[in-house]
Amino acid sequence: MAGENMSCKHTTCTKLRPGDFSDDGSQYVITTPDLPAPWISFLTNGNYCALNSHLGGGFSFYRDHRLHGVLQRSLHQSTADLPGRLFYIKDEDTGAVWNANVHPIGKFDAFEARHGVGYTLITSRYADVAAKLRYFVPQDVDAELWKLELTNHSPRPRRLSVYSCAVFSLGNVSLYEGDTNFHSLFHKISVGPQHIRAKHDFWFPEYGWSEHGRVWPYSVFLTTTAKPDRLLTDRTAFLGAFRDFHNPVGIESEWLPAGTGQHLAGVCQWRITLMPGATWRTDIAIGIQARDAEQIPANLQSSAWHDTAFDATRRWWRELFAPIQVQTPDADINRMMNVWNKYQLMVNFHFGRAPSYFHKGQYPAMRDCCQDAFGAIPLAPALAKQNLQRIAQFFYADGQACGGCNRAGLPEPPSLKVDLPLWFVLAVADYIRETGDWAFLDESFPLMDGGQSSVYAKMVAGLTRMLDQRGPHGLPLMGKGDWNDAANMVGAQGRGESVWLAQFLYLAVSEIAPFLQRTGDTALLDRCRVRAAEIRRIVNEQCWDGEWFVRAFRDDGRPLGVRGEPEGFIWINSQTWAVIADIADRDRLNQCQDSVERHLGTPAGLMNLAPAYSRYDPSIGLITAFRAGWKENGAVFSHASAFNVVARALLGRGREALDLYRRILPAGKDPARYKIEPYVFAQFCAGPAAGAGTGEGAYHWLTGTAAWMFRAMTDYIIGVRPQFDGLLIAPAVDPAWREFSMQRVFRGAKYNFHFRNPTGVETGVKQILLDGQQITGTLLPLPTAKNHSVEILMG
Ligand code: GLC
Repeated sequence: MAGENMSCKHTTCTKLRPGDFSDDGSQYVITTPDLPAPWISFLTNGNYCALNSHLGGGFSFYRDHRLHGVLQRSLHQSTADLPGRLFYIKDEDTGAVWNANVHPIGKFDAFEARHGVGYTLITSRYADVAAKLRYFVPQDVDAELWKLELTNHSPRPRRLSVYSCAVFSLGNVSLYEGDTNFHSLFHKISVGPQHIRAKHDFWFPEYGWSEHGRVWPYSVFLTTTAKPDRLLTDRTAFLGAFRDFHNPVGIESEWLPAGTGQHLAGVCQWRITLMPGATWRTDIAIGIQARDAEQIPANLQSSAWHDTAFDATRRWWRELFAPIQVQTPDADINRMMNVWNKYQLMVNFHFGRAPSYFHKGQYPAMRDCCQDAFGAIPLAPALAKQNLQRIAQFFYADGQACGGCNRAGLPEPPSLKVDLPLWFVLAVADYIRETGDWAFLDESFPLMDGGQSSVYAKMVAGLTRMLDQRGPHGLPLMGKGDWNDAANMVGAQGRGESVWLAQFLYLAVSEIAPFLQRTGDTALLDRCRVRAAEIRRIVNEQCWDGEWFVRAFRDDGRPLGVRGEPEGFIWINSQTWAVIADIADRDRLNQCQDSVERHLGTPAGLMNLAPAYSRYDPSIGLITAFRAGWKENGAVFSHASAFNVVARALLGRGREALDLYRRILPAGKDPARYKIEPYVFAQFCAGPAAGAGTGEGAYHWLTGTAAWMFRAMTDYIIGVRPQFDGLLIAPAVDPAWREFSMQRVFRGAKYNFHFRNPTGVETGVKQILLDGQQITGTLLPLPTAKNHSVEILMG
């Protein structure tokens, strides 16, 4: 394919790049199909989820990607970008064949794709036929809607055959895709003049094969607005033997071949004659409904309804994003904060750790779900509460948490990861600071091992279970992994201890303390305080390596992350969380942050640890088996870097906080190296040890980075932090930021914060005017009106 580059208008990036944000940031405009990787978006209403590339590639599922597949994903989707959502056009007079979505045939005279919030628009042109495509998932129907509009720009009438092609994999995705022939035997297909419906009568409600096969409780449909001349349900008949999507045999004959539906596809053919200047349109809806639903919603066959749904969907997203807006001196930050970071947050919120384009996807893990809720709390507290309510159902009576918090209501075993319950404490505390919804503590949810208990009881059980677990140094046990999942052997024998977890526990104690106080649980409060003081002492006396904190002690007692080790002598999290937990004096905290930049800093962000391990170390585990420079083994880990932005801001190191924030922003990276989307945070990009691969982005979209980058900006850089009794104002910025503002809803009131920084300080507040009245200190009281204006003078 050929394509043009356009130069980047961003201040920090001098590279050429094949796209850019629209001026208002609401769209990312891609000017060539020829990208280093498919650049995708997740189109979703929270239930139906369609991954869609800039060329219409991608797949879809409903609620749980393992149980309810709709459009097929393929093993190499990230490189082949197929099957996807394809439109073929054949000129019946010349025999020319191309794709309106350009891919896979790749012929085009003009191309542009725009990813917007919840939709993708593609425009293309070939042989004087212009195509406009639109893909989106409407707010209130569990379907993906495709539109194709063709206009004849040539002086002669055009006789065209238009084909749309979708390939399905219904129900249990991995079983279906692992054994398509067998699973295809259970399809029940019905075809009408303008629709296809497919049921699948062999399905497991678990994540794998079991004894209990039953019918899939859903059916999938495809319906169109313009009546097709022919419909085909057999992928093999469409493609033909020895063929693929580049040259399907089905479009070589004037009529589609007949098919039986062995390998389920939905192919439509329209035969149209377009007069010069004329436009033709069809819309397609592919969706999911109850297996026994009587009919497909009739409005899906009306183009006018599709357009109305599109406008409503865009409005819905805009309204969802409205409660928080920022205006900073940095256009990239504004675009991320006001649009794309929020969008990524919501995608994570609904589908955290589902598949991205570059990995198969796992389950919605508790640690991640809690962080995703944390990200969404200021923006959509009511929605965030729904997730907390779901997470609350994945505990055992003894405080153990499940690894996954699935949306299918399936039981989950207790997790081997020891830190999970503490994330719940943090997320619930954050939610209550945001909303004042103390009653949430009393809401009761079932326990995995029977009975039920309140949110409060679950928090207490999770924390107390960990309180007295002590290894040889008196620190919490690391078991088979904490935040660093892959450091799974450090404490596998039951003696290794985690310094990071100790810091996290110290923080969790201070988070839960107000709840214990309020409930009058003074005995537990005292126990927590005594243990916290002990942890603080041990961390400072036994875990300080002179310039930074040790990461852990292994089962055999040897420290991990200390000077003198040839590899992995410093790990990031025990430095960052020392600050977040405020577990040492300022000098020491500042010193360990200096060490972080010195040893872990790269132009793209901070490495997870350094130097990367070059060989497997059984006393540490899987993390040392990753290729050096990749994933947690020395990659630049955006998620952990985002934690560190918070730490820098908490120390008042505003310039450095913002500098790191900017380094993680995808917009400033060289796309030829980074390869993946410039509008989405990646979980990591390959670190210096990756050699030629350094800088390559990976595990995009579904990462806790989104939540932490968002909160790092609102709460720690701009520095407006909800408290139980008001809003704390504590900005930490680059001195070059002389003026910035944020609109934020808090407890139902709309606040307009306007910061001035005339003397160019990094932190510090000289004066706060609340509705024109000066207040004492930096804590704004709870709102007393629907609107408040706050003028902050830094200095
Ligand atoms: C990913 C996981 C997160 C984990 C981290 C390090 O970000 O989603 O849960 O803590 O990797 O393993």
